[in-house]
Amino acid sequence: MRRGAARPKLPVPAPIGGVLGVRIVSLVTERSSAVSLDGMGSLRRTHGCGDLRAADVGREVVLAGWVHRRRDHGGVCFVDLRDRTGLVQAVFKPEVAADAHRRADGLRSEFVALIRGVVEPRTDETVNPRLPTGEIEVTVHEVRILNSATAPPFAIEEDSGADEMVRLRHRIHDLRRPPLQRALGIRHRLYQSVRSTLSGLGFLEIETPILAKATPEGARDFLVPARLQPGGFYALPQSPQIMKQLLMVSGFDRYFQIARCFRDEDLRADRQLEFTQIDLEMSFVGVEEVLAVLEEVTVRAWRDAAGIELPRPFPRMSYAEAMSRYGSDKPDPRVLLELVDLTEVFRTSELRAFRAAVDRGGIVQCLPIHDGEALSRGAIDRLESFVKKELGGKGLAWVRVEADGGWQSPIAKFLSDAERTAITERTAARPGTVLFFVADEAAKAHAIAGRLRTDLGRQLGRVDGREWAPLLVVNFPVFERDEEGRLGYMHMPFVAPVEDDLPLLESDPERVRGTHYDVVMNGVELGSGSLRNHRSDVQRRIFDVLGYGRNEAEERFGFLLSALDAGAPPHGGFAFGFDRLAMLLAGAESLRDVIAFPKTQRGQDLLMEAPGPVEDEQLSELSIRIDLPEFD
Ligand code: AMO
Ligand code: AMP
Repeated sequence: MRRGAARPKLPVPAPIGGVLGVRIVSLVTERSSAVSLDGMGSLRRTHGCGDLRAADVGREVVLAGWVHRRRDHGGVCFVDLRDRTGLVQAVFKPEVAADAHRRADGLRSEFVALIRGVVEPRTDETVNPRLPTGEIEVTVHEVRILNSATAPPFAIEEDSGADEMVRLRHRIHDLRRPPLQRALGIRHRLYQSVRSTLSGLGFLEIETPILAKATPEGARDFLVPARLQPGGFYALPQSPQIMKQLLMVSGFDRYFQIARCFRDEDLRADRQLEFTQIDLEMSFVGVEEVLAVLEEVTVRAWRDAAGIELPRPFPRMSYAEAMSRYGSDKPDPRVLLELVDLTEVFRTSELRAFRAAVDRGGIVQCLPIHDGEALSRGAIDRLESFVKKELGGKGLAWVRVEADGGWQSPIAKFLSDAERTAITERTAARPGTVLFFVADEAAKAHAIAGRLRTDLGRQLGRVDGREWAPLLVVNFPVFERDEEGRLGYMHMPFVAPVEDDLPLLESDPERVRGTHYDVVMNGVELGSGSLRNHRSDVQRRIFDVLGYGRNEAEERFGFLLSALDAGAPPHGGFAFGFDRLAMLLAGAESLRDVIAFPKTQRGQDLLMEAPGPVEDEQLSELSIRIDLPEFD
């Protein structure tokens, strides 16, 4: 399109690097030049700052790190020195080392220093029980200031108090904070754990290309222009899915990779544009053998990264049961409230809103809360408006069963005696019970009722005491219909149907059971996988059911289909979201807190200021012309 041609105005994106609307300027950019800097000379570290204990008293040590804090107590000067191992208190006394004491004057927060000194016990009154090194301090004999530093933009503490955008912009300082130091430690132990477990089980680690071809994980691709093939693009892999299947055909019957994946999708707390999977695939196996490996990887990961022993075997639940009891395919079973499906009760009801939802193929989900006296009328009204405003629901009908068995409810007058009886029986309602009803199309009703279940369950303390609740959710269907009623795949088009259901593929695809499974922990989907179609005839039939024309199927997946024809063994596998494991183990709320250099919600790296513009010359080499919409 010609630049400036009449066309609708698009919303103006925020300037690059400017999520806050203004460029964040480093608070102090001037380098402090007053101090003269030293080299390390021949001094080398003997210990980590956080490693010293009472048993080290009397030892001469050399420590290096960052100045965490300096306090001048007239005469004596205290400096907390910090490195990856922790903090230690260094004491500069003029009578011990006059030169070091004088030089300590020049130390500021985050300066880099090397000290040589002697470990001494602290007096009883000065012992700091909150600090692992709190029983000792180091009396300094020599200090070398290795570098000065600009003033930190926020406190390098457990809780910096800074806005996340500021933290991401100043990620170097943020990464010096204990929670991020711990999180990256957990990540490290996780990598080692996964490698050792899978290698021990006979898996080979194999890398697959980053410059690849589009894979069907359902998100938008990141494209990379190919200079040598003008007009051609690589796609960054959304996962190594097809490549690992090709490796199975090539005879590497147990593969794994700690793989970087790229998906141009809308970011949430548990999604990033660029993330890491523990990707694995096995040949000559059924679902059971894969699940056994997944359980082993998970148990070892929790043990190695956090010293936690998960209970085995992991409980299992079918997709259908998870949806009907919990309204979610990734339930947190620690929340004890359960849903009841009342669709049948309302199929012929006078209650128009519910009947209409059921007539359109929707469902009615009920969340019964026994002994719900604590739920005030005000709280119920707030929930109703939360459902409408925040969850996009049409309403939240409710019933409170009073002490005399009477029903207080905005819908009671529309219900027949038979319906009341059926509801009472199915929900086991009794005096004190509060029932909530959601009538909508199935996906939405599940989402709303499932969300109320976990929110209310936690608020009302209806939870069991387990810290960790692993769950294997199995038997996901192969196909599902979208809101317009079109048939699509639920997970991806390579999922193998259960063998007995193959005859139903064309006649009744929605009844076809799949071999897909997920590993869920505390209501978070850790990963998913399935057996795959290893016969090209079955794979082609599935493409047909999905409505891919023969040409489209050949164009997109021709190389996979011919690989299947080249002697593909039965195979199946899985991918864990590595960052999600790290997030749970670190007790973090967001993937951003367990990734060294994450992207913001808007896909920006605020530290490097990526994405950014490129030179015209680079573009012309790639035969690319930028055609941005006109901005005001
Ligand atoms: P799936 O698309 O379910 O399956 O991805 C597997 C796991 O990867 C994690 N994950 C993400 N983590 C962070 N940010 C994201 N944007 C993101 N998207 C996914 C989740 C998810 O469970 N090839 C198949 C796996 C297979 O069948 O073997 C796949 O990629 O934890
Ligand atoms: P109304 O007839 O719209 O005043 O609704 C009566 C009650 O039913 C109110 O408490 C609504 O919140 C609730 N309600 C209406 N539609 C739905 C629905 N689709 N699902 C659940 N509750 C609903």
